[in-house]
Amino acid sequence: MKVTAIGPANIAFIKYWGKVDPKVRVPQNNSISMNLSNLYTFSTVEFDPLLKKDTIHFINDNVNQPEINRVVEALDIVRRKAKVKSFAKVITKNNFPKAIGIASSASGFSSIILAALTSLGVDLGKIELSKLCRVISGSACRSIPDGYVEWDKGTGPQDSYARQIYPASYWKICDVVAIVSKKMKKISSSQGHLLANSSPFFKARLAGMSQKVKDIKLAIKKRDFSQFGKIMEQDALNMHAICLTSSPSLIYWEPATILVMKEVINWREVGDVESYFTIDAGPSVHVICQESDAKKVAEKLKVIDGVKQIVVNKPARGAHLVTSHLF
Ligand code: DP6
Repeated sequence: MKVTAIGPANIAFIKYWGKVDPKVRVPQNNSISMNLSNLYTFSTVEFDPLLKKDTIHFINDNVNQPEINRVVEALDIVRRKAKVKSFAKVITKNNFPKAIGIASSASGFSSIILAALTSLGVDLGKIELSKLCRVISGSACRSIPDGYVEWDKGTGPQDSYARQIYPASYWKICDVVAIVSKKMKKISSSQGHLLANSSPFFKARLAGMSQKVKDIKLAIKKRDFSQFGKIMEQDALNMHAICLTSSPSLIYWEPATILVMKEVINWREVGDVESYFTIDAGPSVHVICQESDAKKVAEKLKVIDGVKQIVVNKPARGAHLVTSHLF
């Protein structure tokens, strides 16, 4: 059966950085995120007993062999779960450039894995589906539940998965993404995670994580935007401090990334608009604001030197099936 799923990118308010078990992607700390309404991947999958191998096509994207291999790895996991041997045709399409700090592996793998399992008639439920996605890309496990999400690191692969903390409708905040470069980053986040331990500051980061997670959850519960924004922005800088001080060091920012960060801080200082930034492993800046300020933030970001494109996102549901197909 041919099945298509859509998987959203998500933005981490408290970052996942560093793994206890890199093979099955058990993280060092819990992370908190929100699914994004306007950044997503469509994937159509069909298993066919006549195929001699998996055929994988990325629409609008140059694709390299390691990326193809990772999709095959995802299909292998699905095949083992469903106890089938046949190969699949996969066509996948992002509505944004990959590897620029917008969680393309989260949107990509959540959609491919959901479509593949469904096409084999397997419905795992959200918890097991989240665990399965986690093995292929950690952040993908957070693209399964709807809305605001916590990934509990668990005690091992058996209980490390993401669950909803609030539905998308709970709080009207926006992620206004400023894209400042469309070039693929040189060091993937999978490689970056492996360097975290080499930073002399990583232990200190981990020591503060559980309190930070509690604090931001309380701020979200109270819809306290100022408190929430401060914790989120600090955590992004904390994660990038680990990247900058890893060996070899990882500098995911471009000059325009820093310009945007400084502008966001300045808007707050002068009492213009209250927004806060966060940055994943890439140069794009995610500017988080209240929905009523999203238009203004987008207008202000547009005129900053080096900003190439703006994408405004609301909180969104997790990966789900759709009825139109890519082939
Ligand atoms: C900086 O999920 O891309 O975006 O598990 O190896 O696929 P893998 O890494 P990935 O790491 C995401 C790191 C981050 C922070 C976050 O999303 O929490």
